[in-house]
Amino acid sequence: MKVHLTRRYLFSASHRLHSDMLSPAANRETYGKCNNPHGHGHNYFLEVTVSGTPHAQTGMLCDLGALDTIVRSQVLERYDHVNLNEMQDFAATVPTTENLTLAIQQLLSRAALPAHLEGIRIEETGNNSFEAPSDVMGGNAPRSVQ
Ligand code: NI
Repeated sequence: MKVHLTRRYLFSASHRLHSDMLSPAANRETYGKCNNPHGHGHNYFLEVTVSGTPHAQTGMLCDLGALDTIVRSQVLERYDHVNLNEMQDFAATVPTTENLTLAIQQLLSRAALPAHLEGIRIEETGNNSFEAPSDVMGGNAPRSVQ
C-alpha cells in the first residue's frame, strides 16, 4: 500500500516580472506593479510530496532528515535570499512562480531523494499556489533506495 508524505519548507527570494520579449508598455500592462524595476520579495512555502510503502521495521516511508538534507542543498541553499532575476536558472525565462515551480521540480527530479517524488507545490501568497506533479516533467522513474 502506497502512502504520500508531504514536507513543508520556507525560503525567501525577490523577483521582478519582466519579459524581454515584451515592450515596456506591454510589460507594465501584463505584470502591473510586479514589473516595478525595484522588484519585490516573497516568502515561498515549498511542499515536497514523496510516496512509497512504509518500511516494515520503522513504519516510516523515508528518513525525513535525508529528505531535508537534499531539499536544503538542492533548493533552499540555491534560492533562499537571492534575486531570482540574477540567477542563470532564469536567464531565458521570466522568474514567475510558475517557472520557479518547474525549476525546483526539475532540480528535485534529478536528486537522489529517499523516496519517489510525486511532485511539489509552492505557495507564493495566501491566494496563489502552483503545483508540478513529477510526471509532468517526465523521466522521474522510481530510484533504487541506497
Ligand atoms: Ni511576485
